[in-house]
Amino acid sequence: MERTSDGQVPATLIMGDGIGPEVTESVVQVLDALGSPFAWDVQHGGLAAIDRSGDPLPGATLESIRRTRLALKGPLTTPVGGGFRSVNVRLREEFHLYANLRPARTMIPGGRYEDIDLVIVRENLEGLYVAFEHYIPVGDDPHAVAISSGVNTREGSRRIVEFAFDYAVRNGRKKVTIVHKANVLKALTGVFLDTAREVAKNYEGRVAVDDRIVDACAMQLVLNPWQFDVIVTTNLFGDILSDQAAGLVGGLGMAPGANVGLHAAIFEAVHGSAPDIAGKGIANPTSLLMAAGLMLEHAGFMELRQRLEKGIDHVFNTGKLRTGDLGGKASTQEFTQALIQRVSG
Ligand code: NAI
Ligand code: MG
Repeated sequence: MERTSDGQVPATLIMGDGIGPEVTESVVQVLDALGSPFAWDVQHGGLAAIDRSGDPLPGATLESIRRTRLALKGPLTTPVGGGFRSVNVRLREEFHLYANLRPARTMIPGGRYEDIDLVIVRENLEGLYVAFEHYIPVGDDPHAVAISSGVNTREGSRRIVEFAFDYAVRNGRKKVTIVHKANVLKALTGVFLDTAREVAKNYEGRVAVDDRIVDACAMQLVLNPWQFDVIVTTNLFGDILSDQAAGLVGGLGMAPGANVGLHAAIFEAVHGSAPDIAGKGIANPTSLLMAAGLMLEHAGFMELRQRLEKGIDHVFNTGKLRTGDLGGKASTQEFTQALIQRVSG
């Protein structure tokens, strides 16, 4: 990790679209109060960047991340159907961020589920997200048939499963569950399952392993989520199951994510730009705050991460201050100011 002469850690900051600027501002304020080491290089991306330069992923943003190898990113809007390709997906590809780590942990007791503590490790570059898609016209309908091919490689599968097991070992996790659909997509997710079982043998005696078909896993996550510890799965299944896991701990306002590669890492919330509540000042900043916590740990500042999470816990459970998505009345800034008081006190 790069350091400036006064010990700061240069990091790229992308405010994001929709609720992005509101929650990112909150995180910057809280990190300042915490005494965080990051020296921000503010860059643009998404709709905000299109407005400024016509490009949703400007060269200057890429250059900044190439230099800092570390970024915090607000959510970016992606048009549905036509329009430009997801900037989030392009960033993952550009910096080869093959692992997407998405922890879900109960922070507020008394919800639908108690004591959830699981981690989803999602393959971030392959599968159906390569978006090899095309249409075949029939008669006068240009979109009569839609075709998509997924790509999973043995190399990519090995890399992500090793990441999951290494994470489990490092963090004292007991079990890794391999999630697949190899009964139907025998080649595409079969190669993932085969490779994962092979990799698991190298961790025998250290980390337990089992596997589940994705649909059964989704049901089990509702019936008995406590049986899961670390889940490792392919790109699309990981996307879906991580939103589901967020639902177990209070929703998308509570779910951080890290996109990790060998040479760079980008931290973000699992949620999107939430256009339905954008500009109202009511978004829950916790997901991005927790993502900043993961970023602190990644940069070697575990103690700061712990202080940040203790602060959030205090505001939720002692201060009883919560945003609307959690049934509370606090605005983004009311929550932020309470947290600032706590972490700087
Ligand atoms: P979304 O995650 O933005 O919103 C889903 C629902 O959750 C909405 O009702 C929203 O109000 C609520 N929500 C999300 N985050 C919240 C928060 N922090 N506090 C309170 N409520 C929150 O998903 P949606 O609507 O499907 O996508 C909107 C846009 O975001 C799309 O353009 C999508 O492509 C993009 N997106 C970007 C992501 C990223 O930048 N990594 C990830 C997911 C979606
Ligand atoms: Mg998603």
